[in-house]
Amino acid sequence: MSTQEAPSGTTPNAADSLKRVRTRHFQRAKEQGIKITGLTSYDYLSASIFDRAGIDFLLVGDSAGNAVFGYDSTLPVTSDELIPLCRAVVRAAKRALVIADLPFGSYEAGPGDALHTAIRFMKETGAHAVKLEGGRRSAKQIEAIVRAGIPVMAHIGFTPQSEHGLGGHIIQGRGDGAAQLLDDAHAVEEAGAFSVVLEMVPSAVAAQVTKELTIPTISVGAGPHCDGQLMVWTDWAGFTADRIPKFVKQFAHIAETLHDAAVAYREEVESGIYPAPEHEYDA
Ligand code: KIV
Repeated sequence: MSTQEAPSGTTPNAADSLKRVRTRHFQRAKEQGIKITGLTSYDYLSASIFDRAGIDFLLVGDSAGNAVFGYDSTLPVTSDELIPLCRAVVRAAKRALVIADLPFGSYEAGPGDALHTAIRFMKETGAHAVKLEGGRRSAKQIEAIVRAGIPVMAHIGFTPQSEHGLGGHIIQGRGDGAAQLLDDAHAVEEAGAFSVVLEMVPSAVAAQVTKELTIPTISVGAGPHCDGQLMVWTDWAGFTADRIPKFVKQFAHIAETLHDAAVAYREEVESGIYPAPEHEYDA
């Protein structure tokens, strides 16, 4: 996605290409048929790399609950745990829009709680937007946050924070579920969300949502017809030992690389190959 204001055909310069991605760029990308790219990120180094690679937005997802803290779901992670991670990602991101994910338990009770948590993330981390789960059921929360001037990315379809209510990791929007999904999509758009994540939704249903909404749709396992794609970076880079969902394409094999490096390091230390003379300081 380009963040240039100049008409097409003019030569971009380095400074221009670092212009911050804004929510209006999301809208413009949808209108122009330009795909939006997002990755989750939980730390300074990975965020710097993704930002330099031109990824449009970085989500400090509650998937940090699994990837960073080792919980077996996203439910236990708290605002206090996510806030320092979000700060690190904001420090790294010179261009990408940084979105803070509101954790389970921090917004469901009502618009007041939701606004309080969203303000906390914006003030304490410097994030540029927040994300929360739920369609019509979260519309009042979205309205309250948007009214305070904070952009909201909505999240419908499979919503991991409600995995127990949904009966597990189940594709949403199949059969009669399509009407419910469309209703949720319209509800979050009407509530003022600037974009909406569709997670684990059949491609044809996601295509219909994308056609009916004026705001961009972001796919997490919702096929190629959405306006953008988002992946959990530790899945996408082959960093996780967990089973990965069918929709994930692994663009790297970090776990293998790190494992092999750790084995080589151990073997070289044990056999006296490392450190070699070039790694030593003279007296
Ligand atoms: O926390 C996260 O990583 C997410 C994405 C899967 C949408 O919410």
